[in-house]
Amino acid sequence: MSPSRAAGHAAQPPDFSPRDFRATLGMFATGVTIVTARNDQGEPVGLTASSFNSVSLDPPLVLWSLGKAAGSMAVFSNGRHYAINVLAADQQALAERFAARGVDRWAGVGFTEGAGGAPLLEGCVATFECFNRSQYTEGDHVIFVGEVERCARRADASPLLYHGGRFYTEHPLHGAPADASAPQPPDGRFVGSYLGYLLGQASHAVYRDFENAIAAQGLTHIAWRVLAVLHDAALSQPHSPPNGQGAIAVGQLAHDVLAKQPTVTKLVQRMAEDGLLELLADPADQRRTLVVATAEGRRIAAALIEQARAQESHLLSRWSAHEADTLKRHLQKLASGQ
Ligand SMILES: Cc1cc2nc3c(=O)[nH]c(=O)nc-3n(C[C@H](O)[C@H](O)[C@H](O)COP(=O)(O)O)c2cc1C
Repeated sequence: MSPSRAAGHAAQPPDFSPRDFRATLGMFATGVTIVTARNDQGEPVGLTASSFNSVSLDPPLVLWSLGKAAGSMAVFSNGRHYAINVLAADQQALAERFAARGVDRWAGVGFTEGAGGAPLLEGCVATFECFNRSQYTEGDHVIFVGEVERCARRADASPLLYHGGRFYTEHPLHGAPADASAPQPPDGRFVGSYLGYLLGQASHAVYRDFENAIAAQGLTHIAWRVLAVLHDAALSQPHSPPNGQGAIAVGQLAHDVLAKQPTVTKLVQRMAEDGLLELLADPADQRRTLVVATAEGRRIAAALIEQARAQESHLLSRWSAHEADTLKRHLQKLASGQ
């Protein structure tokens, strides 16, 4: 069977870059599957694929596509059967492992045998056991159409979601059963479930784009925190004398920006030389130096805070106000050591 083509017509060359194309495709949210089969030696073979989709109800047909350069191409193009395993929300680690090269993808993975010996992975939300019905080479991929001989699903778990190059383990339907089981992956893996690691990853996601805005102002991360802390101090001391408004002692500032001395003293001196801060002697204690933002420092802080807020709203745009609020309250609780 060969694909039908629009006779005598050819597409215009693309007016976008491959990067744009990938990013645009990333707006289509999908689930994540691991497609499995057995090679000639009877060994299990599998790879992560999000290109799965439905084709026909009668007969029951599904499709997925495999990159021509994939190591598993020979197994899937020659085999009679494969299984499509739809991953559960707590199986992100498995999705990553079956997309990685040079690792033992099957170490510790539990499965049963499906049609043609294709592995049916434990813990998946659905499986489709497919007869390898047809294949279509298009561009740099081969589209596989499978005829489903058996399918099964779990009602007590939610699927893993994927879009824009990222996994989403929390189901948008709040309180879906997989949420409860998500924190502890069944294979006992530490990294993806450890709080410190998750906070680090989350912090990276929050700052990824905003780092550029900080750098564009010629600031380091700590310098940005200094300006942000002084901005808030000015809000909480609105009635101080004009050039003392929002002034903070250097020691307190070091504490508030989570940095050590003498790093902060050196930093505020440099920022003062750059015209962002003013250093004042504390009228109550001449040995203490107070730090206050100049008009230029306040202007830059206001611009960055606006960008930080916009970026936060973007990041949380898929969250309900309740979820965002709950997250922040939990983080505040954790930070205060309660
Ligand atoms: C979420 C996700 C979805 C993927 N979807 C596909 C896909 O649909 N088709 C494909 O060929 N590769 C896909 N990949 C990449 C393959 O999993 C990866 O190239 C893997 O190493 C191929 O294995 P193989 O070389 O052993 O065949 C995806 C990777 C990830 C992380």
